[in-house]
Formats: sequence, C-alpha cells, structure tokens
Amino acid sequence: MTNEHNEHLNTNDMPQFPESYWWDSITLPSFPKLTEHREAEVVVVGGGITGVTTAYLLAKAGLKVVLVEAGRLLHGTTGHTTAKITAQHDLIYDELIHTFGQEKAQLYYKANADALHFIKRMIEDHKIECDFHEQDAYIYTNSDTYTTKLEKELAAYEKLGIHGDLVEQIALPIPIKSALVMHKQAQFHPLKYLKKLVELFVQLGGTIYENTTVETVEKGEQPEVVLRDGHKITCKHVVSCSHFPCYDGMRFYFTRLYANRSYVIGVKSEKRYLGGMYISAEDPKRSVRSATSANGDNLLLIGGESHKTGQGICMIKHYEALQAFAQQTFGIEEFAYRWSAQDLVTLDNVPYIGHLSSSTPNIYVATGYRKWGMSTGTAAALLLRDMITRKENAYEELYTPARFHLVPDVKTFVVQNADVAKHLIGGKLEMVSKKPESLSNDEGAAVSVNGKRAGAYRDKKGNLHLVDTTCTHLGCEVEWNEGERSWDCPCHGSRFSYDGDVLEGPATEPLKKIEQS
Ligand code: FES
Repeated sequence: MTNEHNEHLNTNDMPQFPESYWWDSITLPSFPKLTEHREAEVVVVGGGITGVTTAYLLAKAGLKVVLVEAGRLLHGTTGHTTAKITAQHDLIYDELIHTFGQEKAQLYYKANADALHFIKRMIEDHKIECDFHEQDAYIYTNSDTYTTKLEKELAAYEKLGIHGDLVEQIALPIPIKSALVMHKQAQFHPLKYLKKLVELFVQLGGTIYENTTVETVEKGEQPEVVLRDGHKITCKHVVSCSHFPCYDGMRFYFTRLYANRSYVIGVKSEKRYLGGMYISAEDPKRSVRSATSANGDNLLLIGGESHKTGQGICMIKHYEALQAFAQQTFGIEEFAYRWSAQDLVTLDNVPYIGHLSSSTPNIYVATGYRKWGMSTGTAAALLLRDMITRKENAYEELYTPARFHLVPDVKTFVVQNADVAKHLIGGKLEMVSKKPESLSNDEGAAVSVNGKRAGAYRDKKGNLHLVDTTCTHLGCEVEWNEGERSWDCPCHGSRFSYDGDVLEGPATEPLKKIEQS
C-alpha cells in the first residue's frame, strides 16, 4: 500500500519498553502480602476486572470476602486491554445460532448488554470519572467474502433483536466494502473505573492481598486455599478469576483452553479521529479506538497481530506491523505506548463461568473470554454473585463449564492437542548452536549450554540469566518473547520471567535455573 505518510515511518521511534497507557495514567493503592492463616466466607483468586467486580458484589451482598492476587492488582490482562465495552465480539452471533441455537445466542447477547448496563449504572451512581463514552462499534471489511459474512451476521442480529445495520462508509480513512455497526456500545479507562470498585470493596469490609500466590485448593465443605508459602485461607466458597483456574480438580482445563497473545500501540495521530470503535473482519486483524492521554491529547489505541502464545514471529515485528498500519492510516505524530496481552480462548468460543465441576459445588471458575474481557468479566461477576448467593440467573446454563458440544468442540480439541504434541516433540529435537557468549546486552534466545538447549537472557547490565527451557507444566519447550522479555510456552500459554518465575499459568513452578560451569 502506498501512502503519503509512508516515508516518515521510523521504527526507532518505538518506545523502548512495553508499557500500558492505562497503567501509565493512574496510581493505584498497594496492598500487603498475606503472611498468616485466615478465614473468610469467600476467597476470590485473581485481581482483574472479574475478581474485583465479583469481590465488590459479594461484599455488597453482605459476605466476608478476601481477594488475593499473585502480583499487583489489575496488572494482568485487565491492565493491558483495549477496553471496549461491547456485545459485538467480532463475528459471533451467526456462529452461536448454529452451534447453540437462537435462544442461547440471544442470552449471550443479553448477558453482555446487561454487563454494559451495569458498568454504566455504577459510573452514574458513584460518579466515577473514567472517560466513559458511548460509541458505536463496527466490524469492517474490504473483501467480498467477508461482506457476505457480515450480511449473515446482520441477519443473525435481526433474528436476535440486536440494534445494528450494514453501512458502506465509516469514519476511518481506509477503503472498505462494508461494515456492520452495533449501536450504543462504549469505551472507558478500565483502571479508573476499577480503582473505584476497589475503594468500595474495602469500604464494605473486604480485604485485599497482593503478591500472594495460590498454590492449590483443598476441596471439601470448608475448602482451604493453600498459598505458595504454606499459609491457608479457610472459607465456604472459592472463586478462581485467575485466567487458568488456580485449581484444576482433574478437569484438564488446559486441554479445553488455548492462549492467544495480541498487541496494542498508543499513538498521537496527525489526522483527526472522528469517533467509533472498529475491528477488521479479516486478517490481519486491526482494532481501533481513541482514548484521552493524561495531558488531554487524543491518543489512538490500535490493536491486532494476535497469535497463539509462544508461536509468533519475532515480537517486535508485530509492533512494527501495527506501527506501519497507524502510519499509513492516520500518520504518527508521536509513538507513545506499546504493550501486549494474553487472552484465553475456549473450544466453542463461549467462556467457562460457573462450577469448576459437579463434584466441587463451592469452587467456581471464570475464564476463556477471548478478547472481550470488559463485558464478559462483568457478566461473569454478576453470574458468580448470583450463584453464590443462590439467586436464579438466566445465564448459568449458557456459560456452564460442564458443557462439551460435539461439534465443533471435538474437532478443535483434536487440532489443539495435535498442536501441543508438535511443540512437545519439535522443541526437544530443535538444534541450537547459538552460545550465551554471543548475546548482546538486553538480548535473549535459546542457546546451547554443555550440548543442551537452554534459555539465556543477558540483562542491560550484562548479567547472564540461564534457565532450563522445559516448561514445568507438561514439558513443552518455552520460547523467548522479545517484546515482553519473557519465556512463553506454545502448548498451554504458561509464561515465565527471564529468570524463570511464573508470570502466568497453568504452570505453577518456576523454570529451573542453570548455573554455567
Ligand atoms: Fe502446558 Fe507449558 S503450559 S506444557
């Protein structure tokens, strides 16, 4: 594609380190680590939008709630989202009608519309200043094949009573054939909104612990949440909002979920942005919305380049592709931010929210939101609150993790697991010749140490960090993620820091450190 802005593209303008705009524009309170045994009625594990909203709702219902987070609150996917609050989850409704039937497809829409309504009401009731703006959401295409798909999706909207239209023009300076709009969706600053929910939770008597890692859960009438350092929290209900469930209970969730990584950049543009939230129907996916930077400048958030975790090209290339799109479409005045996020996807594209299994009625999970965590995380919190307080909720059956549809689940299941086997075997056989000595400062790679594959990162001061690249979950070989400076597992999405600490599960043990002789 040629473009008037192309000649100005300069990859050196890219921020040196990944940092989310949301995190850069707010200060959040910090909370202590739990260092003793405790009791509670409900333990919520995971401090993202689902965990914080669930904890708030349960405390408001009068329950004694403890929220534990392995790292910092709101620092996972919630702090790295594009923060669109919408029921337009890409092209989904035509597929849902075929897989689940019209009634469930309609429930899926309503659950997300309810979530948007709940967020809006919270903002109004508590006067939360969080840059909330109503926006129309668009899926656009420049291909004939996807135009037909958009027409089918509009037919699904009409069957389900969703307020939408097909249009031939949008307010983005790119050629399109067609776009499907869902009216009156919204965008906000997720951390400004959730900061208020955290304050309300604490005012209601809730307790939060950060840097508190859950090792496992001992099931029973009074389940015990066991922390990595051996302390326990005894409770009546455990809610896992930690992406991969903090306790699997032999349900093998890692075979029913796969991890995707995607990228976001924040740029100040040369062209004026005329509003709306957009996503392309076809690949390469491009997601666009605006935000307001701390000093009042208009920032464009451009996302895309999604791939299975640990299986992408060189990470910087993904940012460069988004940078090129931004430059060609809007012109970049300043490249202010870049960051990435990991999302989990279920076999049938509908999240798992509800009882972990029928034999553990007091342990709940919420996971597999694809890329739609703002509405789905809120819908999950509302459902979990109702399940724990024994209120009827129309969405319980739709989201139950107990479901296993034969089509297309089984096909996806086989493909996913064949993919895992490929990485399990392929990674082991891969020959690496690179030596740790050849690494420059701030460079990481798979290297050969004493004839064996190892992971090496030389930090900015020149210190070398060596780890065993065998993932501690089930033994696949982790790959270097240059963008985030982490070791990522291509099999089920575990991530480890450059010196091996667990950043994201399902792995719970760190990578082994290697001492160089
Ligand atoms: Fe399962 Fe690595 S996450 S083998």
